[in-house]
This record gives sequence, structure tokens and C-alpha cells, in this order.
Amino acid sequence: MSKSVNVAIIGSGVVGSAYINQLKNLKTNIAFNVVYLARSSKEALYNDDYKPIDLATYKTAPAKSVLSLEKLIAYLKGAHKPTILVDNTSNEAIANSYPNFIKEGISIATPNKKAFSSALKIWNDIFSSAEKEGSGLVYHESTVGAGLPIIGPLKDIVLTGDKVETIEGIFSGTLSYIFNEFSTPEKSGVQFSDIVTKAKSLGYTEPDPRDDLNGLDVARKVTILARIAGFDVESPTSFPVESLIPKQLESVSSADEFLQKLPQYDADIQKVKDEAFADGKVLRFVGKVDLKNDNVSVEIGKYPFDHPFASLKGSDNVVAIKTNRYPNPLIIQGAGAGAEVTAHGVLADTIKIAERIAN
Ligand SMILES: NC(=O)c1ccc[n+]([C@@H]2O[C@H](COP(=O)([O-])OP(=O)(O)OC[C@H]3O[C@@H](n4cnc5c(N)ncnc54)[C@H](OP(=O)(O)O)[C@@H]3O)[C@@H](O)[C@H]2O)c1
Repeated sequence: MSKSVNVAIIGSGVVGSAYINQLKNLKTNIAFNVVYLARSSKEALYNDDYKPIDLATYKTAPAKSVLSLEKLIAYLKGAHKPTILVDNTSNEAIANSYPNFIKEGISIATPNKKAFSSALKIWNDIFSSAEKEGSGLVYHESTVGAGLPIIGPLKDIVLTGDKVETIEGIFSGTLSYIFNEFSTPEKSGVQFSDIVTKAKSLGYTEPDPRDDLNGLDVARKVTILARIAGFDVESPTSFPVESLIPKQLESVSSADEFLQKLPQYDADIQKVKDEAFADGKVLRFVGKVDLKNDNVSVEIGKYPFDHPFASLKGSDNVVAIKTNRYPNPLIIQGAGAGAEVTAHGVLADTIKIAERIAN
């Protein structure tokens, strides 16, 4: 008889629906029985007898109300099967409840950064719970760089006793696009505000671009990488994070007003770009972890035209990990956002967990 696991999926938004589609078409020798699927924050599909949900019809099948997190744990435990919770939301309450799932032996696969990049206490709760006998496993590759293999290789580096010196990278697809277009090795007169407006019209930014330009998303990703490398970062606001929002525009009431006034501040960042250009460098928005000097930062960095960060294309992410064994940094680069690659990262984690727990 082939092995199987139960799967509970929360969320069917951009990433969640791509995940469900990839899972539906998966060909493996492990059976993935989806016994719970919250297709929104209100509606869920599940059967009291744990009959698997048909992923071909989940969008239209009659739904019930979502279970509270306590009831969900009780329901999943009642099946007496190895179980994986797939959290495809950005919900903080779900993230904060991971230790409760893990303690009950339920494993987690998720692209939700919240639990791993908030207060250090929740990180410690998650990983100390996961170490205990009979606990669930935790995989979160897609919390940094979407589906790019960054967290797995970094964990392997640490686990095998290598010493990380620095981790440096471009971790926001949106800010990658903006700087790749704004600051190039070829002379260009393009204005920062024009690129931000274009990025928004292409759907690359959050509805309010200030949610990208404040640097917090990058700070969250850097927090996760720093912690894996052994640097106990207290929170994503406990180190310097450069905001690209002009001070005077922090409190304007709407995204439209922000974009309308942004051109007034183009000269400031243009000056920084021109100075870098005269020096043979481009600007990139980077997160850095420097374990030698106990320093974490998120800021605009300047890179020579022939540096790998300078030739980045589109909205790609890149990370350079320098260690004792990799004095020439290990470089990982590719699409760092998007439904398919993010879902692929979460599904690959689901499969890795299933290979360890299915019976
Ligand atoms: N999109 C990307 O390229 C990308 C890349 C890397 C990582 N991620 C991460 O992936 C996660 C999902 O992103 P997304 O772009 O797919 O977001 P999204 O389109 O907003 O989808 C979120 C989904 O979660 C549901 N949800 C929220 N709270 C819930 C709750 N309490 N119970 C049940 N369902 C709930 C939402 O339902 P409602 O509509 O009812 O609220 C929605 O279906 C986020 O953590 C994001 O940071 C995304």
C-alpha cells in the first residue's frame, strides 16, 4: 500500500490557488489527502469523516464556516494521521499559533513571513517546539526569495559546521525592479518617481507603494536569514532600515497623493545615483547580515558595474552568502516573487515533509 499524509490548506489567494493547482497535478508515490481547505477567511471545505476534498471543484463546492484554530487542531488530530498545515496567508494570528500545531505533531509548510520575522520569542517557540519528540516539522523556504533555494542551502551551511561571514542580497522583487530600471550601467535620465508609478501600474507594488518603499518587507527577510545564520535579531525594527519614502510624504493620506507629490523629491535620490554613476557604480536596495561585525542593515548600496547585483534583470532576487568554505560567495539568483514560483517552493516543502512523515 502506498504512503499518505493529510494536508490542511489555509488560503486560496494568489499563491494558494497556484499551490492547489500544482498539488492537484502532482505525480508522486505519496498520496496527499487534503482534508481541510479554507478557501477564504470565512469559508472552508472539510468532511467530518476526513474524506479528501476534490481539488478540481474546490472553488464552487458548498462550503462551511472556517474552523477556529483550536477546533482545526482538534479536527486534524482526530484523523490520527501524519498531517501538514499549509498556511498560504499572511495572517498573523495563524502564524502565532504555529507552536500549538507543532506541539500537537502537525507540521507546517508556509510562505507566510510573519511568524519567522516578528519577535524573537515566537521564533524560539516555534523551533524549540519543533525539536521535541513527536512534534511537527517546520519548512518555510518561500518566506525569503519566493521559490528560490536560499533557506535550505543556508541551513545546510550552518548545520554542517561552516561559518557564515556575510549574507547580502536583493530580497524585494518590487525594489529590485525599481532600482534595476532606475540605476543602470548605461546613462539614463529616468526619474525615480516615474519608475515607482510604472511599477504600480504594472501591479508590481502593493496598492500603496509606500508599503514596499518603507523597507520593512526586506527587513523581515533579513531577520529570517540572520536568525538562521545564528544572529539573534530581536525584531525587524531592531536594526537600521533605510526608508525610500521622503519624510514629508510619510503621512499623506492616499497612495495617489503620494505618487503625485513624489516627483518633488526626485532630485535627492538622483544626486545619489549620479554620484554613484560617476564612480562606475549602480544603486541597489540591499539587506545585509554581517556576522563578523554583528551588524544587520537594510539600505541603498552602491555596486560596481561588473558586480553580479548590477546586472540583475526585471524583478529578480539575488543573495550572496560568504562563508569559510565559500570565500567567493555562493550566489543564488532568480525570480523572487510570483504565484507559480512561490507555490512551487511551498509545495516542495510539503513534499519534503511528507517524505519524512508519511505512513
Ligand atoms: N504573491 C507573491 O509573489 C508572494 C511571494 C512570496 C511570498 N508570498 C507570501 O505568500 C502568502 C500569500 O500571499 P498571496 O499573494 O497569495 O496573498 P493573497 O492573494 O492576499 O491571499 C491570501 C489568502 O489568504 C486568505 N486568508 C487570510 N486570512 C485568513 C484566515 N484567517 N483564514 C483563512 N484564510 C485566510 C485570504 O482570504 P480573504 O480573501 O477572505 O481574506 C486569501 O484567500 C503571504 O504570506 C505572502 O507574503 C507571496
